[in-house]
Amino acid sequence: MTSFFQQDKLAVLFDAAAVAARVSELGRAITAHYASAIARGEELVVVGVLKGSFVFLADLVRAIDAPCHIEFMGVSSYGDATESSGVVQVTQDLTRPIKNKHLLLVEDIVDTGLTMKYLLDNLATRGPRSVKLASLLEKPSKNAAGVEVDFLGFSIPDQFVVGYGLDAAGLYRNLPYVGLVMPPKSEGQG
Ligand code: IMP
Repeated sequence: MTSFFQQDKLAVLFDAAAVAARVSELGRAITAHYASAIARGEELVVVGVLKGSFVFLADLVRAIDAPCHIEFMGVSSYGDATESSGVVQVTQDLTRPIKNKHLLLVEDIVDTGLTMKYLLDNLATRGPRSVKLASLLEKPSKNAAGVEVDFLGFSIPDQFVVGYGLDAAGLYRNLPYVGLVMPPKSEGQG
């Protein structure tokens, strides 16, 4: 039986080892960035953006050698389409105030940047001490909102990717790598 993880309509873009290596590097960079703040007794809150960041967040926080609180925000900007609707809806908010705390927002991918622009503006009104953004992926050619990713895994071309938390119509989030969904082969091409 063909494994769900080995379907020929998926091409591997970043395999599990490449993702793990990059996440470790990001964890080290984030640890170094917050070391002096933590030493001063300041608090770090890591905020995962649901649903797409859940796999990245789980690996990233284990690569951060510092005490941190973990929160989630739910946003929806896509529905089942592969293009941004531009309309961002908060479906789940933080459970604690973030005033005077360092905030690290964790996202799966910055595409048009509209979702992150909205969230960064929203969170900035709540008086955090600092706000930084970590994203596994960015499509720089499409980031029209000009959102700056402070801790970036990989830049990718403008292609639709799935896996490691990212979905297509709700599926593929549990692939252990980042892949591309290939167009179906036409008859006679093997
Ligand atoms: P943005 O607001 O256009 O930056 O879109 C961000 C959100 O769109 C991400 O959190 C993803 O949920 C979704 N998204 C954008 N590009 C892709 C993709 O290539 N694969 C899967 N989801 C994507």
